[in-house]
Parts: sequence; C-alpha cells; structure tokens
Amino acid sequence: MLKTKVAILGAGFISDIHFESYHRFIPEAEVVAVYARDAAKAKAFAEKHNIPAWYDDIDAILSESGCEVVDICLPNFLHASVTLKAADAGKHIIIEKPLALTLEEADAMIAACKAAGVKLMYAEELCFAPKYERVRQMVKEGGVGDIYMLKQGEKHSGPHSAWFYDKKLSGGGVLMDMGCHAIAWFRWMLNNARAVSVYASMATVYHKDKTDCEDNSVVIVEFENGVIGVAENSWAKHGGMDDRCEVYGTGGVVYADLFMGNAAVSYSKNGYGYAMEKADTTIGWSFTIFEEVFNQGYPHELKHFIDCIQQNKEPLVTGEDGRAVLEIINAAYASAAEGRKIMLPFSPKVERPIDLWHHPQHIK
Ligand SMILES: NC(=O)c1ccc[n+]([C@@H]2O[C@H](COP(=O)([O-])OP(=O)(O)OC[C@H]3O[C@@H](n4cnc5c(N)ncnc54)[C@H](O)[C@@H]3O)[C@@H](O)[C@H]2O)c1
Repeated sequence: MLKTKVAILGAGFISDIHFESYHRFIPEAEVVAVYARDAAKAKAFAEKHNIPAWYDDIDAILSESGCEVVDICLPNFLHASVTLKAADAGKHIIIEKPLALTLEEADAMIAACKAAGVKLMYAEELCFAPKYERVRQMVKEGGVGDIYMLKQGEKHSGPHSAWFYDKKLSGGGVLMDMGCHAIAWFRWMLNNARAVSVYASMATVYHKDKTDCEDNSVVIVEFENGVIGVAENSWAKHGGMDDRCEVYGTGGVVYADLFMGNAAVSYSKNGYGYAMEKADTTIGWSFTIFEEVFNQGYPHELKHFIDCIQQNKEPLVTGEDGRAVLEIINAAYASAAEGRKIMLPFSPKVERPIDLWHHPQHIK
C-alpha cells in the first residue's frame, strides 16, 4: 500500500489527536517525524508514539525528514510563517484552525500554496464528524425542507495551554478558538453560501484574571440565501466539552450533540480516570465519552486529505474556506465593539482580529 509520509508540527494536545487518527484509522499514511520547539518535548512525543524522527528545527524537518505532507498543529501566530516555509519546501499542508491571524496572512498562504503547486486543506473536523455528516445527509435528502436557521455551539471551561489566553499568540479568545468551528460548519451546510452580514455580542465573564480576550460570544451571521447562523461559544461553561448543532427548516428540525449525546451517562462515588475533554471531575454524574477522536471527525478529515494527495484531488475544505471564516470572525469583533451589524466583504487592517474589539478605531 502507498503510504504518504506525514510530519506533524507541534507536540501538544491536537498533535496527539492527529497522531491517534493516522495511527489507528489511516493505513495510507505514515507519520515519519515530529517537530516541537522544545527538543525534549519532540523526543518524548516521538518515543511515546514510535515515530522514527524528531526535530526542534522547522527548516530541518522540512528538508531532512522526507515528508510529503506537513500537518500544522502549532499555536495560531505561527500558522502563516510555517505554511509559507512548508509551501516553499514543496510540502502539501493541512493546517489546524484558525487559518491565520490576519486576512493578509491568509491571502499570502493561499497564494504561496498555489504558486508552489501544493495542496492546502483547512482542518475543520466538524465538516467530517460522523454525526454531523448524518445531519447533512438528512438535509440533502430533503428531511428538513428549506433551512432557515442553523445553530452551532462549542463550549467548555477554558483552554489547556497559556498561549490561547494571550492575544498576541492566539489573535483572540473563544471566538477565534471555537467560534471558527461554527462559522465553518454554517458555510459547509450551506454549500459555501456567501455571508452578507455579521452581528455579535461578547464579553470576558470568567477568565478576567488571566486574559483580556473574550471568553463568551454569540455571533449571528446572515447568508445571501436568507439563512441565519447563530454561533454560541464559551470558555466559561463548566462540566466538560459541549459541541452541538441544530438545523431548523420549513419541513423539520434536527438536533445533534457530539459529547453529552454520545456519552454513557454515569455516576461514580469515587471517580475514575477520564470522562471527556475538559471535564474537571469524574465524581458524581458524568458524561463518559467513548471514541472521542473518531466522534469528532478527525480521522475522517485527515483521511480525506491523504486521499486528496494520493488521488490528486482538491480538498473539500480549503484555505479559501479558512479565509472566509476569518473574515466573519473579524466582522464579529467589529460588531461587538460598535453594537451594529457589519456588512461583508470586510477587510480591516489589524494585527489580530480581537484588536477590532479592543481598538475599534481600526473599523472603517
Ligand atoms: N480542531 C480542533 O478542535 C482543535 C483543538 C485544539 C487545538 N486546535 C488548534 O491546534 C493548534 C495547536 O493547539 P494545541 O491545543 O495542540 O496547543 P498545545 O499548547 O497543546 O500545543 C502547542 C504545540 O506548539 C508548541 N509551541 C508553543 N509555542 C511555540 C512557539 N512559540 N514556537 C514553536 N512551537 C511552539 C508547543 O510546544 C506544543 O508542542 C492551534 O492552532 C489550535 O487552535 C484545534
């Protein structure tokens, strides 16, 4: 079997999930190397997963590892610079969300991949999550009539690493981190319909001691076909990860819940190992998840990209989709600052999207 050689860049939370996906579910791929800034971390990740090579230098992993694909699992502020290097080295790229910090970076990434003739996939796993895919099929079969409203929300009690809370490294708070999922999923459900306006409200309600980023947000996106998408996102919600969608149509409705709705509802007096992502206790009632990585669609997403490389097909979710999501995120920060609907297209010049909320003088 042809095995596509993959290098994972990053050795943190999502890198583990991507590794598990390749290892357990994608025999057509082989992880040949891992990069982390810290050599000890790279070595430990390689040893834990039996990966033959590790690097603490991005240029070296690109030139020496023999990889055909780089899977970018690094903090947001590195997405653009690392994509440019990887494209220059002739590697196909799958990149974690959000695509970049700025629209200029996004444009440069897309252009560099086109110029180098390499594929760029925007890794939005909700487009591949099996339960959400079942919902999409039901809609395609006419099961809900004409969609008039979509809702999607992802909520937990806050990220696992400090960089998420630092806007210079993340570009913004929960909207950048998790609102991007909802927005990408709306576009996916609507065959990439154009968004025409964005309204948002947001605040820092829980993590005021560690960040000036928003940790709770609601965004309403209006699309050209009249559908509205409502994105609810929070880093202030206790009790573990919540990821759910609702589809409302003229002929029906569907609700899907990836975590609580896929869990074994359990009660434990003493507690046990692990219930689900971001659950801080297993004592008392828990939603005990199974096949967490599979249920969120990571193996399906990564398998799709490997198939695109092997069959020379365009990915179903592209850099352009990541850019469209980022534009809507920018508009949401501007809307929250000004208390009004922002019309698209919207192309502000800011170092990071959250600046539009903190310094609304950048909004034109
Ligand atoms: N699709 C999803 O649901 C999902 C979930 C989690 C994270 N992500 C995305 O994946 C990316 C990584 O997130 P994570 O949760 O794995 O983060 P993490 O903090 O767990 O891991 C980040 C990795 O990058 C390395 N790193 C940190 N700062 C660095 C620097 N200055 N230079 C070089 N390397 C550095 C760390 O050592 C670590 O290996 C982010 O873009 C995040 O938004 C996506």
